[in-house]
Amino acid sequence: MSIVKIYEFPDPVLRKATAAVETFDDELRQLAEDMAVTMFDAPGVGLAAPQIGESIKMIVVDHSRQEDNPGTWLALVNPEIIAAEGRQCGSEGCLSMPDLTSKVNRYHTVTVRYLDLHGEPREIVAEDRFAVVLQHEIDHLNGVLFLDHLSSLKRNLYLKKYKKWFRQQQA
Ligand code: NI
Repeated sequence: MSIVKIYEFPDPVLRKATAAVETFDDELRQLAEDMAVTMFDAPGVGLAAPQIGESIKMIVVDHSRQEDNPGTWLALVNPEIIAAEGRQCGSEGCLSMPDLTSKVNRYHTVTVRYLDLHGEPREIVAEDRFAVVLQHEIDHLNGVLFLDHLSSLKRNLYLKKYKKWFRQQQA
């Protein structure tokens, strides 16, 4: 288990197409574990493979609240939203865009179909914040960042702010 590097915007890997996972081996499970350790260390509540430079369809999410057990996580391979309903609007951030948060419109409830780390098909129904995390992380697999959901006016303001922050980090 090791903490790995999180790629930050505007790294092109965050916009790259991802490939479906077809092999469910120890290497994949190791990658998921590294992602989980990296997510908790950040700290964050979700992490998508492209954020650690791997262009494959896998996300990990914090599952502590659902299982009432701190440090519990869930890996979703080739996840797909198959049903969605209701709306919610809450504050969101992203480990690939540190220090930026914004309100984003999302579905209130989503049903996600995915494969577990052994390739077994599963389904999960999520609502409220957990549903937001799943939508946010699945977006990453399609090269979509939370800023893409904002109006262009708001997005440009945020990008300006971010570029300034980014320059300061590089200096
Ligand atoms: Ni993110």
